[in-house]
Amino acid sequence: MERVEKFLKDAGTYFLATVDGDKARVRPFGTAHIFEGKLYIQTGKSKDVSKQIHKNPNVEVCACIGGDWLRLCGELVEDERREAKVSMLEAYPSLKSMYSPDDANTEVFYFKNATATFSSFTKAPEVVKF
Ligand SMILES: Cc1cc2nc3c(=O)[nH]c(=O)nc-3n(C[C@H](O)[C@H](O)[C@H](O)COP(=O)(O)O)c2cc1C
Repeated sequence: MERVEKFLKDAGTYFLATVDGDKARVRPFGTAHIFEGKLYIQTGKSKDVSKQIHKNPNVEVCACIGGDWLRLCGELVEDERREAKVSMLEAYPSLKSMYSPDDANTEVFYFKNATATFSSFTKAPEVVKF
């Protein structure tokens, strides 16, 4: 899991795909943070991405660095605890101008039943589950 977090942070931007009825949706994301042994992302309840995750928590993430790429799929589980939001905002202080652990918008999700596949043009894929 640490390797997945590091790859996402090193990539800087990853792309988060959700399901919207019978359509795929994708957008850039940047948050990736391990808290209490789980990999979290952050968003806002007002966003379509949040509504899609609540309806269908099966998501996939893709990030790449040069000729290496990571695909991470799994279920997202909302963690409503204040301490989980605080930990995320401490990891990404720039978010504090838009989000607060006590607003009605900020939310964090962690990955459950996740499968990460590290791929490269030059090496065999490596699969990590967490
Ligand atoms: C580099 C980059 C990183 C981003 N990271 C996040 C993020 O971690 N969480 C988030 O909610 N939005 C993030 N955004 C903004 C979302 O991509 C944007 O709000 C998007 O429209 C949300 O998807 P939706 O319109 O389907 O709700 C980021 C945007 C960029 C350009």
